[in-house]
Amino acid sequence: MAITEILPGIHYVGVNDRTTTRFEGLWSLPSGVSYNSYLVIGEKIALIDTVEEAFGSRLFENIREVIGERKIDYLVVNHMEPDHSSSIAALRLRYPDLRIVGNAKTLQMIGGYYGIGTGTVEVGEGSTLDLGGKVLSFHLIPMVHWPETMVTWYADEGVVFSGDAFGTFGALDGGITDSQVEPERYWDEMRRYYACIVGKYGVPVQKALQKVGGLPIRTICPTHGPVWQREIPRVVDLYDRLSRYEGEPGAVVAYGSMYGNTEQMAERIARELAEAGVRRIRVHNLSYADPSVVLRDVFRYDTLVVGSPTYNAELFPPVEQLLRRLEARCIPQRNFAFFGSFTWAAAAVRRMKEFSERMKWEPVCGPVEMKQGYSPAMIDPCRSLAAAVAERVLRK
Ligand code: FEO
Repeated sequence: MAITEILPGIHYVGVNDRTTTRFEGLWSLPSGVSYNSYLVIGEKIALIDTVEEAFGSRLFENIREVIGERKIDYLVVNHMEPDHSSSIAALRLRYPDLRIVGNAKTLQMIGGYYGIGTGTVEVGEGSTLDLGGKVLSFHLIPMVHWPETMVTWYADEGVVFSGDAFGTFGALDGGITDSQVEPERYWDEMRRYYACIVGKYGVPVQKALQKVGGLPIRTICPTHGPVWQREIPRVVDLYDRLSRYEGEPGAVVAYGSMYGNTEQMAERIARELAEAGVRRIRVHNLSYADPSVVLRDVFRYDTLVVGSPTYNAELFPPVEQLLRRLEARCIPQRNFAFFGSFTWAAAAVRRMKEFSERMKWEPVCGPVEMKQGYSPAMIDPCRSLAAAVAERVLRK
């Protein structure tokens, strides 16, 4: 059996992207990303999802390698984001009799994106598609990650084609299933993928987990990253904890600084946290840190300490951008503390207080506010803040 045949009659035909530098134009891809596509072969043949259009010709080569000149009968579209759907028009040109399977929202989007309105099959919750020897069924999981998202279930083998759910950044360096790769490589990339792409949709992800949790799943075929078999309990547990916004004990210190004074507060706070016994500490200078890594760490750990100078009577812009991203992701709770600085008119600390009120995060202690330059007089206030934060981190 070729490595691309995951199970009898189920083939991986996806592609790796090691050239795009920003996923969605936003998120870095230091180890690439895969766009996963699968062939399910019964008497008839279905393709589950396509790939980003720049890689369409490789998808078609992969398909031809498996089925030669046979035709594809159905394309099942689980998710319409263009990293999975933008080869649909080219696929249709190649296989003009192909019927496109999607729910009502999917079909509306296919019309809107690609002008395709014929040769479609509308399905809904629980609908089935008989390929002759293999029956697929469809289950809606809206907002994981778009409103039309659904999963495709092949009950005989316990396979769920899960769309973005259980996906991860990181290309597939040879192996396809988790027993053919080193899974440890993917856990941090899964957290980063979740925080950046799906992080706003914790409640829909929880609903989806409850829905698919009732299925006897033996293989998960996501749209990005490895196919999961051995590691299913760990993958489901990670997605469960991330979608409940449950942080592990640990502190992220994220700060902005123009001339190093606010930075010295951050360094002092981090040092005092370590002195107090906190071991998982991640410090990010927001002018330079990769935003996706900062988000990943905020999702991973239960405590966030933010520092900002006052800039144009507002927050320092990189700090403001982080706080906006956190608000957009509706994170319900974090142990939160903040500190800031100003030269002639204070604003940053006030803005962070307003942020904590909007988020309904009760700060673990009062803020530390510094006027002008850092001096030894700041050590005690920073130590007090760190002590309150450490007490909260170490409580668990
Ligand atoms: Fe991988 Fe939401 O697309």
